[in-house]
Amino acid sequence: MVVTHRVLLDVDTGIDDALAIMFAVAHPEIELLGITCVAGNTSLENVVANTLKVLDVAEAPSIPVAAGSRRPLIEPARASHVHGGDGLGDVGLPVSAREVDPRHASDFLRDTLLAQDEPVTIVALAPQTNLALLLRQYPEVVPKIERILFMGGSASGGNATAVAEFNVWHDPEAAAIVIDSGVPTFMYGLDVFNQVTIDERDADELLLGPSASGRLAGALLHHQMADDAEGEPNPDGYAGHIGDAGAVCALVDPEALHVERRPVRVELAGASRGQTVVDRRQRVGEDAVHGAHAAPDRTPTGAAGGTAGALAGPLPVDVALDVDRLRYARLFLDTIALLP
Ligand code: BDR
Ligand code: CA
Repeated sequence: MVVTHRVLLDVDTGIDDALAIMFAVAHPEIELLGITCVAGNTSLENVVANTLKVLDVAEAPSIPVAAGSRRPLIEPARASHVHGGDGLGDVGLPVSAREVDPRHASDFLRDTLLAQDEPVTIVALAPQTNLALLLRQYPEVVPKIERILFMGGSASGGNATAVAEFNVWHDPEAAAIVIDSGVPTFMYGLDVFNQVTIDERDADELLLGPSASGRLAGALLHHQMADDAEGEPNPDGYAGHIGDAGAVCALVDPEALHVERRPVRVELAGASRGQTVVDRRQRVGEDAVHGAHAAPDRTPTGAAGGTAGALAGPLPVDVALDVDRLRYARLFLDTIALLP
């Protein structure tokens, strides 16, 4: 297979971010140009340390890793409670000797993007603080970004709050900046995120298998299972979800998804702060008829100022609404099996 996806990953590693990194390293159609880290599931220091450890286990070549934001644009940092004390399920991996790129993530992204002949895809698996800073500081990178495929949001309920998904809830302003940036966006949200699971037998096989990467994946999936067992009942019984790794599956196997292009707005205030409002109406609503919206300024430089009128309303996002979950589970297992 040939490389067809040149990718920058933005992560908050994170149990399922670790699964996603291993998948991206292993998949023959993906060339990983670099990984940027942001506070989210755990502190920035933990995220960086965890990311380097996972690359070691996967015996990945020297993929540059850069540290970014310690906290969201406005909110304080709020680590998730489901990823263990170190953010990686406390599985006890050795500290890595890999070096971290000295640049801030947004500078690393800028330099890497501007050095490319062809636009690349950014896969964002974390709060989008680094990407918002990139787009605000360096709008000249926009033509170099093919699209931003992000794990975040939901067209149904939330997980961080009743209506907000964790990554968007953690930094709603950043998500709004990214969605309104004019860069094509693809949302792999909770509607599909929670569906792709690995059952206990397959996780055990990984855990007891010959490859260090497989054993790490098995241990992380078992951590997910324990967490799932405490939460909502899983349709498969005892199973661990691949989470963020599904968003990387979406890159290489989009046909397994049902996707609709829909206007999406990020709520920034009140009890629904962090909610992604996905407009699934088939007909023009009263809001459009009565011209209620002022359009955000989507020029990269912000030079136009806000304008009202024909452009009013949120921009369309490709929203994944359903997934062939067994196909992604198989793809995940087959790809992880390629690692040492
Ligand atoms: C998202 O939040 C984190 O817990 C996961 O890594 C994923 O990116 C799910 O809401
Ligand atoms: Ca994540």
